[in-house]
Amino acid sequence: MILILFGPPGAGKGTQSNLICDHLGFTHVSTGDLLRAAITDKSELGKEAQDFMNRGMLVPDEIVVRMVEEKLKLMDGSSIVFDGFPRTVPQALSLESIFEKLDLHLGGAVFLEVPNHLIIRRLAGRRQTPDGKYVYHIEFNPPKKVGICDVTGVELIQRTDDHEDVISARLEAYSKSTAPLKEFYKSRNCLKEVSGEGSAEEVFYEVSQAISFFKNLGKKNRHA
Ligand code: AP5
Repeated sequence: MILILFGPPGAGKGTQSNLICDHLGFTHVSTGDLLRAAITDKSELGKEAQDFMNRGMLVPDEIVVRMVEEKLKLMDGSSIVFDGFPRTVPQALSLESIFEKLDLHLGGAVFLEVPNHLIIRRLAGRRQTPDGKYVYHIEFNPPKKVGICDVTGVELIQRTDDHEDVISARLEAYSKSTAPLKEFYKSRNCLKEVSGEGSAEEVFYEVSQAISFFKNLGKKNRHA
């Protein structure tokens, strides 16, 4: 099943995607992680994306869509959770064309709802390993030793786009370009809205309920 997880920056998409992968055997595709890896690798794509990301703006649709299509061609398409893609209605339409070309189908889209005041606290307090693999929060999920990853022992960093001036630009980009996806997936009859306000485990319980709903719906549709 292919699942889309979307919502405002800091809603907990990465945290929930990791839980979905660990507990339900999905593979995580995060366009944010892919773009940051391209920047670290100093690839052409990374060079094109870096300035947009540093300013909290969305990377142009054609760059991201090309990157996702290349990634999908290398996967078997069985259990994927998309985190942070699509992020605009044109990206959602492109994803539908890619699915058609590769004979893939969308299982459902889950929207994580979190109020702005909590988003700002979550983003400003996030700390992570430089590769983004282990993510902490100074208040909600602190490491045992301040500033050090419990698992790898490396020094934690703050993402450059988690500074307050960039956070407001990201929130603006979200309201203008990503929030309309809620109506888009509602019109496709495949939207579930989940509150992202509880603890990560509480939110995961609701997200897994939504996934079970989509799985059952898929079974019913196949037998209809
Ligand atoms: P991306 O990396 O996707 O960033 P984002 O969408 O802004 O989301 P975040 O990764 O910041 O937050 P999250 O929702 O994953 O929250 P997390 O789980 O980490 O994109 C970065 C940039 O790349 C974009 O600005 C854009 O420039 C570009 N980009 C990416 N995709 C693109 C696309 N498709 N098109 C165009 N441009 C694109 O949680 C946040 C913090 O809260 C953590 O510290 C965590 O520990 C804590 N936390 C999480 N859940 C809870 C909870 N339930 N309770 C308490 N704390 C929690």
